[in-house]
Amino acid sequence: MKTLFINACVREESRTRQLAYYYLEKNGMPFEELDLEKERAMPLDRAGLLKRGELLEQGKTDDPLFRNANQFREAGEIVIAAPYWDLSIPAILKDYIETIDIVGLTFHYVADDVPKTLSKVRKLVFLTTAGGTMINDDYGYGYLKAIFENFFEVKDFVYFKAEKLDLYGADPERILAETRAEIDRYFAEES
Ligand SMILES: Cc1cc2nc3c(=O)[nH]c(=O)nc-3n(C[C@H](O)[C@H](O)[C@H](O)COP(=O)(O)O)c2cc1C
Repeated sequence: MKTLFINACVREESRTRQLAYYYLEKNGMPFEELDLEKERAMPLDRAGLLKRGELLEQGKTDDPLFRNANQFREAGEIVIAAPYWDLSIPAILKDYIETIDIVGLTFHYVADDVPKTLSKVRKLVFLTTAGGTMINDDYGYGYLKAIFENFFEVKDFVYFKAEKLDLYGADPERILAETRAEIDRYFAEES
């Protein structure tokens, strides 16, 4: 199963990225990385939406505009790392989702209104860290889970988080070590 790592961690010293690399190392599988800081997906504006529609109508799905979608649909495991920002995910990750969630390329509708996947994606691993306490998981992980369940028929979800890293008197190293231990337990149970 091919692993694709979607890196939405923009800070050079990002702790979320460190956790993701820990997971990927433990996973032991070769992976491809898409660094959204370096290869930013543009938000869909009017011109972009029109161009996308035209290309799809012409069947030009190998156009560079669909690079992310084509890369995504070939992966079996998607690993996403994103810090908890403004109770949710960074906008660059939302922009990325707009580039992969494409009717006729990564999913389609057959007879009813239930989307069917056109991708090989079977598993989502999501890692996040928060400065404080996450008020709930719905705006970040919950949103991604819904996307993957609805459009890509994914049933295998794995979620790791480290919270309260920036609170006064916090010991971020200890908190991160606990999350790494959780990752260790996950692989111990898997084997
Ligand atoms: C733009 C921005 C928004 C943030 N919003 C929140 C927030 O809503 N709640 C929270 O607990 N922490 C928030 N934080 C703190 C981060 O979640 C925390 O520092 C996280 O560990 C950063 O991850 P990183 O080390 O991978 O960059 C925010 C940080 C930034 C830079």
